[in-house]
Amino acid sequence: MNHAEAQKMLHRCGQDHVLACWDSLDKAGRKALLGQIASIEPENVARCAAALAAGAQIPDSSKGKAPKVAELKGAKLRAAIAAGEKELDEGRVGVILVAGGQGSRLGFDGPKGCYPIGPITDAPLFYFHARKVLARTVRHGAPVPLYIMTSEANNADTVRCFEEHGYFGLDPDDVFFFVQGMWPGMDKDGKIILDSPGHVFMSPDGHGGLLAALKRSGALADMKKRGIRSLFFFQVDNPLVEVADPAFIGYHVTEKSEYTLKLCEKRDPFEKVGVPMKFGGGYRMVEYTEMTPEQCRRKGAGGKLYFRYGSPAIHVFDREFLEREADKDMPIHLAFKKIPFLGDDGRTVKPQEPNGYKFEKFIFDILPNAKKAAFLAFEQSEEFSPVKNAEGADSPATCKADMQAKWRRWMKAAGIGYAGPVEIDPAYALDAEELKASGICLNAE
Ligand code: UD1
Repeated sequence: MNHAEAQKMLHRCGQDHVLACWDSLDKAGRKALLGQIASIEPENVARCAAALAAGAQIPDSSKGKAPKVAELKGAKLRAAIAAGEKELDEGRVGVILVAGGQGSRLGFDGPKGCYPIGPITDAPLFYFHARKVLARTVRHGAPVPLYIMTSEANNADTVRCFEEHGYFGLDPDDVFFFVQGMWPGMDKDGKIILDSPGHVFMSPDGHGGLLAALKRSGALADMKKRGIRSLFFFQVDNPLVEVADPAFIGYHVTEKSEYTLKLCEKRDPFEKVGVPMKFGGGYRMVEYTEMTPEQCRRKGAGGKLYFRYGSPAIHVFDREFLEREADKDMPIHLAFKKIPFLGDDGRTVKPQEPNGYKFEKFIFDILPNAKKAAFLAFEQSEEFSPVKNAEGADSPATCKADMQAKWRRWMKAAGIGYAGPVEIDPAYALDAEELKASGICLNAE
């Protein structure tokens, strides 16, 4: 894109001011700015401005009903596991890890996946995710390709982390990094914000940016070429996750579902997790911020919470469903934030109060479009303990304690009573049975 093309495009979008400092920029600055402008799609600018003009919409969830959530036991559980194992044996399962977020709440400088979470070794979050994928690959004798979404801000550091750790034992040919899109921030009047004379403030387009990024990067085509049918999706912050577990995959496949969600009972009525609800014939994810206190507290049969299941963002998608959705526009969500901006004196100003908007897409917004959706319950203490905050709930301390408690339960099942620090490489044992079969024993001192 050259200057004239950029000028024309910006004029069409009502954003001429983006080039206002052009004359003061050196050659490199001009090139970088043109690169940024070229990455901005005019339709998206118009859609973001329209979303802003419409204001933050809180959808009405008062008519939402609790979905039917399966709890697999006995023969049904065994059948789901068998179906999932067949999918894995036949190489029809891929894994999507979304790791493009900024992790600002944790206050960690770097990709969140590099955060040292190993209770003994300080191994990064990526280690636990990748070693679980490796264990599945070895156990089923077929590759389980890992598709990792990064952002412009953390892609290089993420790739470096994998390289420095020898891809954690995975075959690099089965690891696919792809970068999500960035959207410009806007002020209250819908004007794109510059944070320095030749630089547009941009932020990642949300985990819903996954669909466009999968398509643009060729990852969707790669999945198709490999004959992948089911995609296990999870977030980078949860090292307790059971990656591509056969029961979940098998339930998804036998239900002929396009979008299957794992749900767990909320720890308290106001836990900060999304809650899927049924509206008429379809489903929609309702964020905790959109629920009224009455909805959160409502009791159902047996005195339990009516909306008792929350989403830890662990999903299985049908590949063809993702292909279909990748061609559609997704809803846009607004976040009012403190965005650095270009002051009148040409310097960057860091505001003390929110002053502008970031725009995001959420992957679960495709839930209403699934021809068939299904929900599977699981035990929170076994599979969900995210690292979100530096301290308190959902922090490294709670997560490390939960990881160790789980491993100690495995040890107990193997006949080892132990209360000290513990860390188990997922490639050594992926579950209690595997740990027991490994013949592990503790040296008595
Ligand atoms: C999210 C969910 C919530 C769910 C909870 C479970 C939303 C809006 N809410 O909350 O329903 O119950 O997790 O832990 O998502 N990411 C990207 N690119 C982005 C933004 C995020 O890849 O542009 C990734 C992050 O790296 C992370 C995941 O998406 O892996 C979740 O992002 P985060 O902002 O931490 O979500 P939460 O608000 O905690």
